[in-house]
Amino acid sequence: MPQITVIEHLLFHQKESPMATGRFTRLLSEMILSGKIINQEVNKAGLVEILGLTGETNIQGEKVRKLDEFANQVLVHRLQRAGVLCALASEENADLIHIPADCPQGDYILIFDPLDGSSNIDANVSIGTIFSIFRRTSACEEPATMADVLQKGAQQVAAGYIIYGSSTMLVYTTGKGVHGFTLDPSVGEFLLSHPDIQIPERGKIYSANEGYRHYWDQPTRKAIDYFKDPDNDSKRVYRSRYIGSLVADFHRNLLYGGVFLYPADTKDSNHPHGKLRLMCEANPLAMVVEQAGGMATDGINRILDIQPTELHQRVPLVIGSKLDVLKVRELLQAG
Ligand code: AHG
Ligand code: MN
Ligand code: MN
Repeated sequence: MPQITVIEHLLFHQKESPMATGRFTRLLSEMILSGKIINQEVNKAGLVEILGLTGETNIQGEKVRKLDEFANQVLVHRLQRAGVLCALASEENADLIHIPADCPQGDYILIFDPLDGSSNIDANVSIGTIFSIFRRTSACEEPATMADVLQKGAQQVAAGYIIYGSSTMLVYTTGKGVHGFTLDPSVGEFLLSHPDIQIPERGKIYSANEGYRHYWDQPTRKAIDYFKDPDNDSKRVYRSRYIGSLVADFHRNLLYGGVFLYPADTKDSNHPHGKLRLMCEANPLAMVVEQAGGMATDGINRILDIQPTELHQRVPLVIGSKLDVLKVRELLQAG
């Protein structure tokens, strides 16, 4: 395959994608540079004093790891100054992050999970950065407000993730298919490696943390038991694969086919609406999976149709191969 960089690919498809404007190209370039900087730190995390905890807890009530904070700072610093955003929102920050007065503004909004799967950092398990991009809805002169940010996922203009794993990959969509780029360290560029990714219509993998079975309601247990039943009506025996890093679990299922479920649970940490966040995890991956021919729901409803009410609201997530996600909906509706 000829060596095509992300920007070349974006410009090449310029005619098809209204997103290939200079401003979007700048935004994507800064995301790419941030990913390379984070990747460097992730790759040597065991060697330098960047593992472990910062001692703080974030808006999610979770312990912040040094690499979480590093990734967050890189993204906020670089993207605030890119001159193409009117606001940022991070999983790690309680409120909107505004653009400094001395920096030029744009009309894009970036919402991101700077480091997903961070509880796995010390164990050298794949982790990732997830991002979601909207255009502001209000007049461009005024500072962006929460109303600009709390848009339905269907309004996203682009979304994707960078996965720091056995290789470092960028997977993203601007609404014209899903394309994967692998970082070639020898040239320091993300090069096209997975053009036009399509998720198999039905998979052979289900991913869920079955340690929480006790906390799920009965319809949820029945839905997950379906994938364990060798006599299920798909006549497929599904394998269980669960890494505990959403980006890694999602990426594997995107390429191989399968369904990931993080249901609501009544665990002591009390996730009545599930653990995963609508704005910085479910929405972006839902746009990617739909563009790849898959599906994403909260069990019943399409993720991209959910009207957000809070920046950090959580949502149950069922995402992956269309027929598997539909099967979960059918079983949950049957009760
Ligand atoms: P984050 O590291 O951004 O907080 O996300 C962690 C999430 C997600 O990556 C993963 O799917 C999920 O936590 C795993 O949760 P459990 O350990 O409860 O299964
Ligand atoms: Mn996350
Ligand atoms: Mn995170």
